[in-house]
Amino acid sequence: MKLIIDDAHIEQIKKIYKYYPVDGVTTNPTILAATGRKPYDILKEIREFIGAAAELHVQVIARTAEGMVEDAHRIQKELGKNTFVKIPSVEEGFRAMKILKTEGAFVTATAIYTPMQAFLAAKAGASYAAPYINRIDNMGYDGVAIAQHIHDIFRNNNLNANVLAASFKNSQQLLELAEYGIGAATASPHVIFSLLTYSPRLKTGDSAIINQCLKI
Ligand code: G3P
Repeated sequence: MKLIIDDAHIEQIKKIYKYYPVDGVTTNPTILAATGRKPYDILKEIREFIGAAAELHVQVIARTAEGMVEDAHRIQKELGKNTFVKIPSVEEGFRAMKILKTEGAFVTATAIYTPMQAFLAAKAGASYAAPYINRIDNMGYDGVAIAQHIHDIFRNNNLNANVLAASFKNSQQLLELAEYGIGAATASPHVIFSLLTYSPRLKTGDSAIINQCLKI
């Protein structure tokens, strides 16, 4: 399972890259707005830092298929052809995905709440489908189970797509998906740092954990 950072604060990204084995960065309009900077300024800085080959996922903002395709072209022009274009899994989104598939673009279908949305997105040409684990939990369903279900649907239908699980509240949700072997998970810095919580009774931090290993 790839582990991706769901944030756009460059200092947080640099800190996580320094210590953790991560595979890229995902963003969305809310995450970009939280930096208080111009979206393409921060995105270009992220691209330059993580390198041309790393995964960078950037969301369209248009509401129509034509507008989404236009947004996708701008994203590719500014940040590189290999940038994953995040497209909401709605009717206009599926239409945009089908057009972008013919162009060979990399698409991440986002805002997924049901397995059927993911199935349609994969058939429309998305490389990743992003179910929102915690938001699904908050609706009274089981986000982890739905992500696992989507993974199985992709494999059982020989669809060339992977799950990119998003919206995590804690490391347990992430661990259950790693155990299942889904394609990728993207989490906020807070959740990534919480992956290293060693024991509920032990303070986090390197020295506490090293002392515990050495039985100091
Ligand atoms: O990548 C989608 C994610 O940013 C949504 O997370 O925590 O707002 O549900 P959250």
